[in-house]
Amino acid sequence: MVDIHLDGVGHSYDGGRTWALQPMTRTWTSARAYALLGPSGCGKTTLLNIMSGLLRPTVGRIWFGEREVTTVPTAARNIAQVFQFPVLYEGMSVYDNLAFPLRNRRYPKAEIDQRVRTVARLLGLDDHLHRRSRRLDPGRQQIVSLGRGLVRSDVAAVLLDEPLTVVDPALKWTLRSKLKEIHRGTGHTLVYVTHDQTEALTFADEVVVLKDGAIVQSGEPTELFLSPEHEFVGHFIGSPGMNMIPADVVDGVVRVGDNAVGHAVGDLAAGDVRIGVRPEFVRIPAAPTPPGLPARITGVDRMGAYHLVRAEIDGHPLVAKVDTGSWFAPGSLEYFHFDRAFLFRDSVRCGVLVAPGEVGPA
Ligand SMILES: Nc1ncnc2c1ncn2[C@@H]1O[C@H](COP(=O)(O)OP(=O)(O)OP(=O)(O)O)[C@@H](O)[C@H]1O
Ligand SMILES: [Mg+2]
Repeated sequence: MVDIHLDGVGHSYDGGRTWALQPMTRTWTSARAYALLGPSGCGKTTLLNIMSGLLRPTVGRIWFGEREVTTVPTAARNIAQVFQFPVLYEGMSVYDNLAFPLRNRRYPKAEIDQRVRTVARLLGLDDHLHRRSRRLDPGRQQIVSLGRGLVRSDVAAVLLDEPLTVVDPALKWTLRSKLKEIHRGTGHTLVYVTHDQTEALTFADEVVVLKDGAIVQSGEPTELFLSPEHEFVGHFIGSPGMNMIPADVVDGVVRVGDNAVGHAVGDLAAGDVRIGVRPEFVRIPAAPTPPGLPARITGVDRMGAYHLVRAEIDGHPLVAKVDTGSWFAPGSLEYFHFDRAFLFRDSVRCGVLVAPGEVGPA
């Protein structure tokens, strides 16, 4: 198992006019489970195909450990790749499909049998081993494709491109945890592409967030939730995403309209900023009195496990997540507190907002 290193790797499909992948340098550490998360068109598949060798990058070099593989074709890279839709031999049995990558590499017969049965058991395919693959429904065919990607022990990495798209939602949960279990057992480097934050957060050791062909942040799921470095991460991760409130800073004092909400930690030039605060960190005390930021309640959505309180601060909408024991009447004026808030300028985090008399988040 080796680290995969991208050195200034970027890709343009139109001769350099636009970059589907901005040139980037980063290392994918051996045996780690990564989720590559981002919206449609941000370059996830492009990046994955460059790592597997299906696509030659316009610029940059790729290393598997000490070995440069930039011009090495896929077959010689020792990569297992699983795509969005089933790729298998429909005329073959499930068993033969799973055994195929191993027979191809001349694994001993006994080991093939043992590996095929182990993967089949983990993915719930035991009862289907001797069926023809074309007789399975598309969801199960995809699980066989997944199995083909996971059956080998000797791969440099397993790359999965939205592998659960055609799988039934209820089964997705099970498969994700199985995938995690298989990963723990094999120690493969996994890169799992998804545009679904839940999938990314439940599965990965590290989530890499991609936007417009560039990595805006990568880190553990809790880090992205608690400490977003870019507005996009605040908004894309979380449900609902981070509130962004226009404000300005003068001499370190942060104001929303006429209200001073606190001071900025960080050496910040005067000017416009946006306050980013997750709905989970907006606190509404029971008593509607200062201190706090005056907010008009516009509505409350009952979500079952919690309430979402919608409000307006100086004409800007804001959402707070509160427990079901509290209730706020639409139209009433409340005083909001931000327990964990950051400042953003040009979409990038530039500081921390600290309420008067309080210490800010790390
Ligand atoms: N073969 C191609 N020729 C030209 N442009 C392409 C090609 N493949 C992708 N692109 C463009 O490159 C950009 C990145 O595409 P890519 O498929 O990598 O995104 P993605 O993040 O995988 O999206 P999705 O979530 O929809 O699969 C997009 O603007 C896309 O239109
Ligand atoms: Mg894609």
